[in-house]
Amino acid sequence: MIKFTKDFLLGAATAAHQVEGNNTNSDCWAMEHMEHTSYAEPSLDAVDHYHRYEEDIQLMADAGLNAYRFSLEWARIEPSEGQFDEEAIEHYRDVIRCCKKHGIEPVVTLHHFSSPVWLIGKGGWEAESTVDDFARYTRYVMEKLGDELRCVCTINEANMGLQIAAIAERYKRQMMVQMEKMQAAGDKDDADGTVQVGINLQKMMADQKAAAEENKKVFGVENVANFTSMRSADGDLLVMKAHQAAKAVIRELAPHIRVGLTLSLHDMQVTEAGGEPFAGKEWEDEFTHYLPYIQDDDFLGVQNYTRSLFGPNGGLPYPEGAEMTQMNYEFYPQALEHVIRRVAEDFKGDLIVTENGVAIADDSRRIAFIAEALAGVKNCIDDGIPVKGYFHWSLIDNFEWQKGYSMTFGLISVDRTTQTRTPKESLSFLGSFR
Ligand code: BGC
Repeated sequence: MIKFTKDFLLGAATAAHQVEGNNTNSDCWAMEHMEHTSYAEPSLDAVDHYHRYEEDIQLMADAGLNAYRFSLEWARIEPSEGQFDEEAIEHYRDVIRCCKKHGIEPVVTLHHFSSPVWLIGKGGWEAESTVDDFARYTRYVMEKLGDELRCVCTINEANMGLQIAAIAERYKRQMMVQMEKMQAAGDKDDADGTVQVGINLQKMMADQKAAAEENKKVFGVENVANFTSMRSADGDLLVMKAHQAAKAVIRELAPHIRVGLTLSLHDMQVTEAGGEPFAGKEWEDEFTHYLPYIQDDDFLGVQNYTRSLFGPNGGLPYPEGAEMTQMNYEFYPQALEHVIRRVAEDFKGDLIVTENGVAIADDSRRIAFIAEALAGVKNCIDDGIPVKGYFHWSLIDNFEWQKGYSMTFGLISVDRTTQTRTPKESLSFLGSFR
């Protein structure tokens, strides 16, 4: 049986908005409650981790884990611009101390997708002012909690906005082709008829207008630039600047802290000749072009869930008969080892797997996933790659953003009517690697 060394961080991860509940000053909460929402359901009490964190940390410790990655909620700490909430920061001090009491190393993320509503009103993740705003929030957190921490991720999946923009772009192209076909078939003004993929174009356009009006009411701007909105090239650079500004603050106030960001990375595989340029371009967009901004970070957080396949015309579908997860992507735990090896070719600092996991109902398949993923991590370490930790996503079944509570990524399940926790077998299985 594989065992990791005592100093290896073996744990699980969560994000504030997905588990805490009642994150009422955040943009996600606002969007969940809008008429024109793309959220399947609102987060409400989530899994009430805000009040039940001690029980959750205890379960982790009982299972043998020694680290917990969680995020601080900016919207709680700075609910209105420049106004900091002492109670909120003290809450996170309690969580950090609770981890330590149970022999768990707290690894804190400063920003995990959700942002304060006021930030979005100022232009959000496309506005230059966000760099200073993020630095000021980081300064407050470091002044209060810097002494308590040893490892901080500034921004979760700093590359997410570009990935979403690329997907939206591909989708738009498919729609254009569809429209052209309809027009060629003399269908011109029957645009109210639904196109093949079940999208109603005219309604979509009318909705967009109404949504813009609602945005104006809720956020004060028509175009909402959330962290998970489609990102422009300037916005992409802005995220890097925000990371660098936060890193500078951390190094000034708490130089003992190891600091890095996290990236969502796919295992790009060319499975049909001719796919090389597409796979290369995608890797450049997802990873390589960030190198100048992260080169001197203490570590890089690697987040991987599956692979992407390429052929002569670009992306390819998953192979016939592939095992799929609830998220509709392939169950492919081998991807993690491939991604770590690829990243290590260019990034020379430490690597921490800050997320890796699978949304699946059958926990025995989660166990199989963990076994394969950790075998891959061990192979990398044996080959001298400095992988310092592995955090499984997620500690507990939680609010999967726009998809709501239907996805089960957790090592612990929850009955949300009573908030009763039941550890799955995969939790102790993960712990057995120490
Ligand atoms: C995010 C998590 C999310 C997970 C599973 C990652 O992209 O950081 O917040 O729940 O993937 O989809």
